[in-house]
Amino acid sequence: MNQIILTGDRPTGRLHVGHYVGSLKERVRLQNSGSFNEIYIMIADAQALTDNAEHPEKVRQNIAQVALDYLACGLDPEKSTIFIQSMIPELTELTFYYMNLVTVSRVQRNPTVKSEIQMRNFEASIPVGFFCYPISQAADITAFRATAVPAGEDQMPMVEQCKEIVHKFNTVYGNTLTEPLIMLPSNRACMRLPGIDGKAKMSKSLGNCIYLSDETEEIKAKVMSMFTNPNHLRVQDPGKVDGNPVFIYLEAFSRPEHFEEFLPEYNGLDELKEHYKSGGLGDVKVKKFLNSVMQKELAPIRERRKMWEKRLPEVYDILRAGTETAKKVAAETLHDVHHAMQIDYFESKDFRR
Ligand code: TRP
Repeated sequence: MNQIILTGDRPTGRLHVGHYVGSLKERVRLQNSGSFNEIYIMIADAQALTDNAEHPEKVRQNIAQVALDYLACGLDPEKSTIFIQSMIPELTELTFYYMNLVTVSRVQRNPTVKSEIQMRNFEASIPVGFFCYPISQAADITAFRATAVPAGEDQMPMVEQCKEIVHKFNTVYGNTLTEPLIMLPSNRACMRLPGIDGKAKMSKSLGNCIYLSDETEEIKAKVMSMFTNPNHLRVQDPGKVDGNPVFIYLEAFSRPEHFEEFLPEYNGLDELKEHYKSGGLGDVKVKKFLNSVMQKELAPIRERRKMWEKRLPEVYDILRAGTETAKKVAAETLHDVHHAMQIDYFESKDFRR
């Protein structure tokens, strides 16, 4: 069977290091592994509009920002098809048919939707479009017959719901759609990188993100201001590493070669943690190390981003070509769906009889 990836991001801001360790890094690895026949990376502008209906300019501006972040991380348009969701109306049509296969109470149970409704104060009045976005996400995934969805943990309920839709569709209309699998990052710290303030999630509105496009000085200032363990006041105090953002970031970013280069007096992260726990290791030293590690990882990404910023017309061409390719694939799936649902009236002879 063809191995196919589909994944994507809402263009509501520049991408940050949470996106990077949670999904982007894995996408690039999978892209370069050669194990996939087709890779589709979608800029989910239509989904972004489900909770930004009044801010189309914000969504529009961030399409290029997200595309730049993709290219900066090493997504290669020769190997991955990068495209814009709203330019493919086939996805909207699929969504409309899938809506018949999902109940309101099922969407209400989706934990990611639940927490987003809370976060946006939508409790009193939820836009219908926003409420239905998990269904549109099933359309995104199935339109490309994706077998794998590399994404963060928050996307698990979406992929689960997609599988249910596929199952239901295939049962009712005959075997047509492909069931996807989510691919989560293998490193636990990468699954949910907290904000620099220690809050559970990095989010633009909380102002607690480190962006892939941040300059050296901004990264340093953010790392040095990071929330740690509030009871670790003096160097000699024993500290907590569990739930301590600085150590979660080190889990996600540091590798043995970083210790050799920047902190050779420690054998590795376990030894550093032990020292912190027993007391005698100050936050500043750990943060300086984290800063060195992050600078090393993010510098090449920022440089590549700058290079692409100077070639914006080429970036638009990449999006246009990717969108054309993606549209053809989605149209083929929609054609099969029409046939399965017996709504291919003018293509079937028995319609006239
Ligand atoms: N929900 C994703 C996000 O918030 C974007 C997205 C839309 C997506 N459709 C998808 C991700 C399909 C994976 C698969 O960034």
